[in-house]
Amino acid sequence: MRAWAPIAALAGVLALAPQAAAHPGAAPWEADGRPGRDSCSTCHFESGPVRNSDQLKLQGLPAKVEPGRSYDLIVTLKHAGMKVAGFLLSLDPVASGAVPFKAGSDKVETKDAAIRSTLASTKQKDEARWTLTWRAPDKLPAEIVFYLSANAGNDDQSPLGDRIYLNAVTAKTR
Ligand code: HEC
Repeated sequence: MRAWAPIAALAGVLALAPQAAAHPGAAPWEADGRPGRDSCSTCHFESGPVRNSDQLKLQGLPAKVEPGRSYDLIVTLKHAGMKVAGFLLSLDPVASGAVPFKAGSDKVETKDAAIRSTLASTKQKDEARWTLTWRAPDKLPAEIVFYLSANAGNDDQSPLGDRIYLNAVTAKTR
């Protein structure tokens, strides 16, 4: 089964490439890397994803989240030699309520309980940075998991040679 995974992934890329190329750098909303879902690595599969690395960070979360409060968050991705970058941040919509994010940077958009960069054409120099505001739900679950994914790309217009970072960041509410 395992040996077929790259071939299956390649077939997936070939099948999906025209669709993906229509919005280069804007990742599919549903490929948010949470358990049971696709991740960036489904298509950017050349090297396996780097998980829970400090090179991809979500900053600005408090030690204890307060209900209904807004927090300014920063996503940073560090990767030597990176030329373009993109990210996707996604929450459990049931836990978070409708549209909890607001973009703070250009070329960032939100949909439901997720936020992503739209264009990879912005040139980056070893570090990419996006800012956003998150409003905590009024009724807090015990914890809130942020699924954060990013691609440090080489700007070659192909899914090869990119490096994917996947993090799951848990915010405590009590
Ligand atoms: C369904 C397949 C697919 C998935 C899933 C996917 N991508 Fe891509 N992505 C592509 C393809 C195909 C390209 C190549 C087109 C291009 O480079 O413009 C691309 C290009 C990019 C680029 C530009 C890279 C470069 O070197 O030019 C970035 C940045 C990017 N994707 C980010 C992401 C992120 C972040 C995720 C996960 C949240 C993701 N992608 C998930 C198909 C996908």
